[in-house]
Amino acid sequence: MSRFIALVPAAGSGSRMGSELPKQYLPLSGRPLIEHTLRALAAHPRIDRVFVVLSPEDGWWEGQGIRHEKLAVLRCGGAVRADSVKNGLKAIASEIATDDWVLVHDAARPCLRPEHVDRMLAELADDEVGGILAVPVADTLKRAEAGQRIAETVPREGLWQAQTPQMFRHGLLLKALGAAGSMVTDEASAIELMGLKPRLVEGDARNLKVTYPRDLELAALILEHWGT
Ligand code: CTP
Ligand code: MG
Repeated sequence: MSRFIALVPAAGSGSRMGSELPKQYLPLSGRPLIEHTLRALAAHPRIDRVFVVLSPEDGWWEGQGIRHEKLAVLRCGGAVRADSVKNGLKAIASEIATDDWVLVHDAARPCLRPEHVDRMLAELADDEVGGILAVPVADTLKRAEAGQRIAETVPREGLWQAQTPQMFRHGLLLKALGAAGSMVTDEASAIELMGLKPRLVEGDARNLKVTYPRDLELAALILEHWGT
């Protein structure tokens, strides 16, 4: 039986947040943001291990006191997200089987719910390729031209917003990221470049990525709503 492993890239600097402390360490509902993320994964009964990928220069992790029996720290983050994930996958290669599933999940998404993970496992555990949590686009989309004017309306039919977790087998994902290079912004893109078609598993907008300061307020409201 293939196991389920979580890999959490957390080696970013959070430049769009504009704070000196990387956003993963900012306080959110009384704890560092990343602690919510790691706990959400570690608390899931079907996830065996949670690996967090930090920057080798990270001087903040130790002071946070985040511990969990499933959690292991890898200090092999890279210059861009794809490198952090690839380095993490290489670092765990001796501990897991090539057929094991890896759920790559942004440290910056602290509002992941067990139901999101349940749905992914239910829909993907027997899948040939794997897939990602995503949300169908609800708003009308506009393409902008110079002067911030609308050039055209883009039909939203069939468009989804990609989230994480993104769930692929270890061997396939490592091969895909190795071939794709550093510019892909998610794991699915690397798999797509191999000619494969990852499945879209419907999540919801509450699994937001904290990018700007206002997202932190929204994340706090969501966590409060769920009582976590
Ligand atoms: N990430 C990473 N290694 C990098 C860049 C990003 O592990 N070299 C991680 C981030 O820590 C984050 C996730 O990838 O958990 C999603 O990236 P993003 O939201 O873009 O975070 P940052 O890159 O830190 O933020 P920004 O782009 O605003 O600088
Ligand atoms: Mg980034």
